[in-house]
Formats: sequence, C-alpha cells, structure tokens
Amino acid sequence: MPPAKPSRTAFVCQQCGFDSPKWLGRCPQCQGFSTFVEERVAPALKGRDGVAREPRVAIPLDEVPPSAEERVPTGIGELDRVLGGGIVPGSLVLLGGDPGIGKSSLLMQASARVRDRGPVLYVSGEESAAQVKMRARRFGIDGSGILLLAETDVGTVIEQIRRARPVLTVVDSIQTMSSETVGSAAGGVSQLRECAARLLEVAKGENVPVFLIGHVTKEGAVAGPRVLEHIVDAVLYLEGERFHSFRILRATKNRFGSTDEVGVFEMGESGLDEVADPSGVFLEERGRGVPGSVVVPTLEGTRPLLVEVQALVTPTSFGLPRRTANGADLQRVLLLLAVLQKRAGLSLGQHDVYVNLVGGLRVREPATDLALAVAMASALRDRAADPRAVFLGEIGLGGEVRRVQRLPARLREAERLGFERAIVPAASARDANGAALEVVPVKDLKEAVLRSGIVER
Ligand SMILES: Nc1ncnc2c1ncn2[C@@H]1O[C@H](COP(=O)(O)OP(=O)(O)O)[C@@H](O)[C@H]1O
Ligand SMILES: [Mg+2]
Repeated sequence: MPPAKPSRTAFVCQQCGFDSPKWLGRCPQCQGFSTFVEERVAPALKGRDGVAREPRVAIPLDEVPPSAEERVPTGIGELDRVLGGGIVPGSLVLLGGDPGIGKSSLLMQASARVRDRGPVLYVSGEESAAQVKMRARRFGIDGSGILLLAETDVGTVIEQIRRARPVLTVVDSIQTMSSETVGSAAGGVSQLRECAARLLEVAKGENVPVFLIGHVTKEGAVAGPRVLEHIVDAVLYLEGERFHSFRILRATKNRFGSTDEVGVFEMGESGLDEVADPSGVFLEERGRGVPGSVVVPTLEGTRPLLVEVQALVTPTSFGLPRRTANGADLQRVLLLLAVLQKRAGLSLGQHDVYVNLVGGLRVREPATDLALAVAMASALRDRAADPRAVFLGEIGLGGEVRRVQRLPARLREAERLGFERAIVPAASARDANGAALEVVPVKDLKEAVLRSGIVER
C-alpha cells in the first residue's frame, strides 16, 4: 500500500463546502459572506482502511442479482412510504431536522421494529447511553437486540459495523462524529464529508443500511448536512412546529423511490405516532361557521390534505398595521391583501391581519391563495364563509383565479370528509367532471368572494 498522502489545510465554506487555498470574503459558489474557515482537508479517499478490493467488472444488466433491491420494511407505515417501501440494504440515508423535532425518537422506534431481523446498532455521539436508554424505556422499548455504542470516533463505529453487520445502523448525529484522518474539529464541513464518505464505503461494502441523523437550522445552512446531500442515497427531513404535535416527514432526494411522498406523525408521550387520517385530525377542532375560517385541500407530495386556514382582522389602533402569518408565506399574504384591495374592493389598509394554518403545518402551495384571501375577506366582514365548502385556486395580480394541479384527488378528499361544495378555478372545472360534490367555478377573486357566502348577494 502506498503511504498515505499528508492532509493539507484549506479554507472551506461552512455553508456549501466549497474549498479554496486562500481565505475568501464571499463564496463564489453559494455567494455567502464570511463563511470560510480554515480546516484540515482529508487526502484523496481511495485505499483507506488498508482494505484491498477486487477491481469491479462490468456485468450485463439482466445478470444483476435481483436481491440487490430487496427492502426491509420498518413496519412504521408512514416512514416506509417516504423511504419508498422500506429500508434498502447498503443505503446511506440522511435524516435532517431542527433540534428537538423527534429525529432520535423516530429512528429509535424504527430500530425497535427491525430488531427481529438481526442486530441493530445505535451509535450515540450526542447523548449518553443512559439517556438513550431512558428514551427507549419511555417508549416502552426493551433493549434486546439493540446494540448501543456511545462513541464519536467514526473508525470505531465502522469496526463495529463490520463485526456485527447490523440490519440497521443509526448514527446520532453525524455532526458529532470525527475521523482521525481529518485534523479539524467535529461538525466542520471536512469532518462531515469525511465521516459520511467512510460510512458510505462501509454501507456499500458490507451491504448494510446506515441512517445518519443531522441537525439543521431553520435556514438549512451553517455547516449543515446540506453538504452531505450529494453523498447519501436519500435525504429525509422531519419538520413541524416545535410546540405543535404534528410532524411531517419528506424526502427531498431518494435514489430508491419517489420524493413525492410524505409521512405524517404526531409527537406523543411514547414517541411519534403515525397519523393515518391527517385531514380528519387537522379538521377535528374546527368550529363551524366561524368568521375567518376556510378549508383548503392542499397537496403534500401526491397526498391530498385538508387544512384549515384562519384569519383574524382587527382595526389598527395605533401606528402601522400589523401583519403576521403562521404556516403561510407572509410575502404571499401581503400580496393577497393588495389584490383584495385593488381587485375585490376590500380595503384592509387600516387593519391588523393575522393568518394561521391550523396544526402547525407549513404550506407553500400557491393553490392555497384563494382560501387565504377568502379567510381574510370573511374576517374583515365578520361573516362566516360557507362551512360546507372548500376553496381552491392560485390568485394572479389581476385578481384572476388560476388553475391548480390534480383537482380530482383534492376533491375526493374533500368529499370523503363530508364537504358538499368546492369553489374552484373556472379553468380547472373541466377536471372536476364526475365529482360528487357541487363544483362552483369562479373566474376571479371578486366572484369567489360573492360565491363564498360572506356577502349578501
Ligand atoms: N420525558 C418526556 N416526555 C415527553 N416528551 C418528551 C420527554 N422528553 C423529551 N420529549 C420530547 O421529545 C422531543 C425530543 O425528541 P428527539 O427525538 O430527542 O429530537 P431530536 O433527536 O430531533 O433532537 C422533545 O422536543 C420533547 O418534545
Ligand atoms: Mg436527538
């Protein structure tokens, strides 16, 4: 084996991982300012660990053994759905999310579900063994079949994986791991990359799945697992509002499945519970006939989800009007206020406006525009919109209601939950043929407000 090349130092952007021999004030790749930190960069990745490998030979596609695609379902339906049907052996998966959102909980629960098939290795670099055990006990999980390793040295972790060949390895978290081949501190871009690359090698080499947990800040930046996205096979994000109990699991990358699926969970005393009927749960506490409350069938991936939009409008008592949006995009809300004023004659210039999406959901889909606008109009008039109707459509600057995708799936979900009417963009109305509920096509916002039941006709 040739002697290992000495590592070199370089300045590495902590936001995107770009490296440069000299310090730069602004990153040429991600345009971030003052993001460079001097780090030791690992030598080239080949020939590590002194493990000799046979050179690979190309084989005809139809001679590839089918077992390479066999999946291990975790039995947590919402997780399997997002993974694309279960855990793929040999895959490296990154689970990201804000601190405290439930990443450790979810993967501890998954560990308990797959341990019948073989040993599970749970590596904790963050919490002590006793803390991990306490969590497991709180979830009613006894420790049998789960090997716990409180370790931050990635070499030791890899040795354990080679020895035990676990059916699932969880590394909690990748930010706490360090490799002796890199001189810089744990959590830096060089360490993150090096540790992930070494774990990838062992996952593929031993054909065992490895899950990495990574903390992300709200903006998703700062020496984040973002720099790992191209190394791993799949990237899952667990999101939700900290003080709400709902959590949504999404895949932003998946080499083994669709990125359109989402999983919905509820955080409870004994961990994350699957929510089989999210629409039903989100609408559970809805007061019917309350001004400012409107329901919209949104799409999360391919899955229709009914969400209640709430607005509260009060006269501004002093100074500038206040506008806040919880779960919706504030810029979008401001734009809709302008359209309401200019195109529907509803002036909210002297009013404070508060918008909230119930359940702590964050929805960015433009198809929620109409529901947001009608909710604000309803709150201003202090008259409830038709409680049996759902509202759907994107709103243009001219006040026109624009078409939305996948209308039939959304209408079926509304129907299933007992809604009787749907206010939809006129251009989409054709797609609604065959819907059992009454479809009311509207061309513009003014017409939608007229048909919403808010104003007397
Ligand atoms: N004793 C407890 N009882 C109920 N919930 C708890 C308890 N301890 C922690 N939690 C919940 O679990 C969450 C932490 O979940 P965890 O899986 O550790 O998150 P992450 O790994 O994403 O940081 C906390 O935000 C808290 O809501
Ligand atoms: Mg954790």
